[in-house]
Amino acid sequence: MTDPNATKKIFISPHIGKVSKNLNLPECVHIFDTSLRDGEQSPGISYTLEQKIQIAEQLNKLGVDVIEAGMPIVSQGDYEACKAISKLGLESEVIGLARIERVDIDKVIECDMEAIHVFIATSDLHLKDKLKMTREQVLEAITKEVEYAKAHFGEKIEFSAEDATRTDLDFLIEANLAAIEAGAKRINIPDTVGTITPPGYAYIIKENISRFPKDIRVSLHCHNDFGLATANTLAGIEAGATQAETTILGLGERAGNACLEEVVMSLHVLYGVRTNIKHQYLYETSKLVERLSSFPIPTNLPLVGENAFRHESGIHAHAVIMNPRTYEPFTPEMIGIPRTDRLEDVVEQAISVGKHTGGHSLGAKLKSMGFSVSKTQFNEIRNRVKEIGDKGKQVTDMDLYEIAINMLGEVPEELSTLKLEELTVTCGKNVTPTATVRLKIKIDDHWDERVSAAIGVGPVDAACNALAKVWEKFGFGKMTLTEYHLDAITGGTDALGRVKVRMTDVFGKAVDSRAVNPDIVMSSIQAMINGMNRYLAEKKR
Ligand code: KIV
Ligand code: ZN
Repeated sequence: MTDPNATKKIFISPHIGKVSKNLNLPECVHIFDTSLRDGEQSPGISYTLEQKIQIAEQLNKLGVDVIEAGMPIVSQGDYEACKAISKLGLESEVIGLARIERVDIDKVIECDMEAIHVFIATSDLHLKDKLKMTREQVLEAITKEVEYAKAHFGEKIEFSAEDATRTDLDFLIEANLAAIEAGAKRINIPDTVGTITPPGYAYIIKENISRFPKDIRVSLHCHNDFGLATANTLAGIEAGATQAETTILGLGERAGNACLEEVVMSLHVLYGVRTNIKHQYLYETSKLVERLSSFPIPTNLPLVGENAFRHESGIHAHAVIMNPRTYEPFTPEMIGIPRTDRLEDVVEQAISVGKHTGGHSLGAKLKSMGFSVSKTQFNEIRNRVKEIGDKGKQVTDMDLYEIAINMLGEVPEELSTLKLEELTVTCGKNVTPTATVRLKIKIDDHWDERVSAAIGVGPVDAACNALAKVWEKFGFGKMTLTEYHLDAITGGTDALGRVKVRMTDVFGKAVDSRAVNPDIVMSSIQAMINGMNRYLAEKKR
C-alpha cells in the first residue's frame, strides 16, 4: 500500500464537518426496529413463530433499543408471537402495536408487552375516506385511549399520527399534544406513504418539537416509496429527533421502510452520531432476515449487497489493491463482513473478474489462486474472460479458476500425449446420435493417429463412446467412465459447461479431471482427454 491513508478504517468527505457543526445533532439515537411488524407487512413475507423468535433474538444481539414484535389484534399467530417474544427477557424493549381502539390495546396488555405503540390516522384524506371520523372525534379518541393505555404502561407509550406528513400541520401538532397530555412520552411522526422530501420532513419535525415538552422522544418512521426513506430519516435527525424506526434490509409495506443498516451506518460513519447498535452484527443480521424472509438481498443494496464491496473495473480494482479506501469508504469488517483490508483478502474477495477487468487485478487474482502463467496464457485467459463478459455473463471466481485450469490443462503441454484432432457429432429428431473422434498420440518424437465412431443415447454419450473406442485402439486397455457431472457455470443457453469426470482402468485405478467449454460435448470430451493425459503422464513417470 502506498497511500499514507492506507491504514484508515474510514475515509469520508471532509466537507461534511463544515455543515454538521451547525446542526443540533443528538449524541445518541434510539433504534426502533419494526422488521417483525412493518417488515412482515411486506407482501410475500410471513414468519413462523420460531422465525420471529429467532429474529427478535438476533435484533437483541444487534443492540436495537426497541423491537416492535407485532400487532396482536391482527391474528392468533401475531398474538402468540408478541406474547412469546415478551417472555424472552430480552434487553431490547418489546413493544406491541395497537390502533387507538380498546380491543387492540387490551390485546397488547394480554400479551404482557413492556410498551405500547398506538396510532390513528390524522390526514383529512384518511379521516374522510378511511375512518369516517371528524377531527374532533379523532382528538377525543386519542385522549381517551392514551389515558387508558397509560394506566397499564405508564410512560412507555408511543403515539403515531398515521399519514402525518399529509396532515394539516396545525392539526398534527394538536393531535400529538393531545397524546402527550394524555400520557404519551414518545411521539412518532410517520411518513406513511413516503411522500415527503428531506427538507419537508425536517420542517415538520422542527415545528412539532418546538411545541413539545423537552422530555418527549420524537421518532421518525419513513417509507421508501420514492427511495427517500433513509434520507428523510437522517433529515429528521438533523432536525432534532432522537429515535429512528427502521427495518432490516428496509423490508416493509410496499417499497419498504428506512433500512436499519443504512441509517445506523450513515449516523455512525457520516454524522458521527452514536446508536446502541453493535455494527459487527449487521451483516449476519441481514443474512438471517434474508434467509427467513426468502427475499434475496439485492446485489447492489448498500452495505450488505454482494456488490457493496466488490470491484471489477481495472482502474477501481487496481486502486483498491493499493488501498481499499480509494473506492471503499470504510472497511467491510466494521459491519461484520468477513473481509479484512489485507492484500490477500482484498484480491480474493473484493476483486471480481469480468470484461472490465484490468491486467493488474487479473494477474493478482490468478496469482492468489496459485497460478503462474506465461504472457500468452495470461492473454488467452484474459480474452476468454472478456468473451464471457461480452455475452453479458458474470464470471465468478470459480469460473476463472476453471478457465485457467482448462487453459493450462491439468497436464503441462510438454507431457501431453493425446490431442483431439476431430470431433463430429450428428443428432436430432429421428436420428441416432453418432460421433466420430480422431485422436493423435505422441509416441517418442512422432505423432500417430486413430479414429473411431460410436453411437449413444445422446450426443455426449456418443462422443464419449467414440473416444473410449479410440483409446482402446491405442492398446491402453479398457477405461470406464465411472462418474460424470455437468453444470452450467455462467447461466443461460450460452453458458460455460463445466464437466467433471472420473475414469477407472481395469485395475480399479481412478483418475479425476475436468474441463470447461461453452459446448458441452467439447467439455465432456476434453475432460476425458485431460484425464487420459494425466493417466498416461503418471504411468510414464
Ligand atoms: O407507516 C405508518 O404510518 C405506520 C404506523 C403504524 C406507524 O406503520
Ligand atoms: Zn409504516
